[in-house]
Amino acid sequence: MLPGLKTLLQPLNVKRFQEQYWRQRHYVSRARGKLVQKLAKELEDFNVYGLLEHHSGPVQAWFTTVEGGFRAAEIPRMAGQAAYDAGVTLYLRLIDVPAIAEWQLRLARELGHSPEGLTCSVFAGKRGASTRCHFDTLENFTIQLQGTKLWRLLPNRHVKAPLENWVTGYELTAEMGLYCKVPMPKDMPSQAEKIELRPGDILYVPRGYWHSAEASGDSVSLFLGFPATPCVDLILNALRSRLIRNALWRENFIDASAGHQWKDQARWQMAELLRALKADVSTLTADDIVACPNGK
Ligand SMILES: [Fe+2]
Repeated sequence: MLPGLKTLLQPLNVKRFQEQYWRQRHYVSRARGKLVQKLAKELEDFNVYGLLEHHSGPVQAWFTTVEGGFRAAEIPRMAGQAAYDAGVTLYLRLIDVPAIAEWQLRLARELGHSPEGLTCSVFAGKRGASTRCHFDTLENFTIQLQGTKLWRLLPNRHVKAPLENWVTGYELTAEMGLYCKVPMPKDMPSQAEKIELRPGDILYVPRGYWHSAEASGDSVSLFLGFPATPCVDLILNALRSRLIRNALWRENFIDASAGHQWKDQARWQMAELLRALKADVSTLTADDIVACPNGK
């Protein structure tokens, strides 16, 4: 059986990890050789061609454009080997390795994290393959299985708890523009910490943390992702379940943009809905939401 958090985090104990690192700052645990041996049995001894041959999920290809931009594209499994040989990083979603799925569920329980939407993938890249400075919306652990990889990491002081992944050099989405109020860096800030991962090393990276990585030798690593469920989504789900019981909320809205003659009716409808919303929200309790986090 694959080990629990206690073994994964050594020499740090689980309580200290929960209090001082989880959802706050990165952490590295070194040389978990036995874990790598156990994972090798589940993952074709980390042979990229073997992994591709037995893979039934999607294959994502990650590569850098000639302008230095980042691109990802889904490619047929049969094209994976040629793409990998040509220096493209492969990202294989492990949807058919039951021992690893069961292990990740156990880890989620230990971390007090929801079992919803857990993701687990293998990254395989040739020496020199790199990712630009970016942040992700997942809490995640990377286990270096083969080869070495140089990471650069920095806490994100630009935006807290982002709702979308973002790669430097790209425009912010309209929604990100609502809560990202300071200029974003163009590349990894110089004060980032450098960490080299060798086989058996485990790196925890919190959601939203700036990071980039470059394979210093051909590299295979395992990624365990624990996605965030933003509170706003939880409340909106619970509220929707409450509101749709009243026909008022299931009615079509009056579209003021259809012409100025509809404006007064649209305003009247919205005023009525806002009155009903205040009444409905005032009856919603914390228990209503905690008891049914998916709004059912
Ligand atoms: Fe990432």
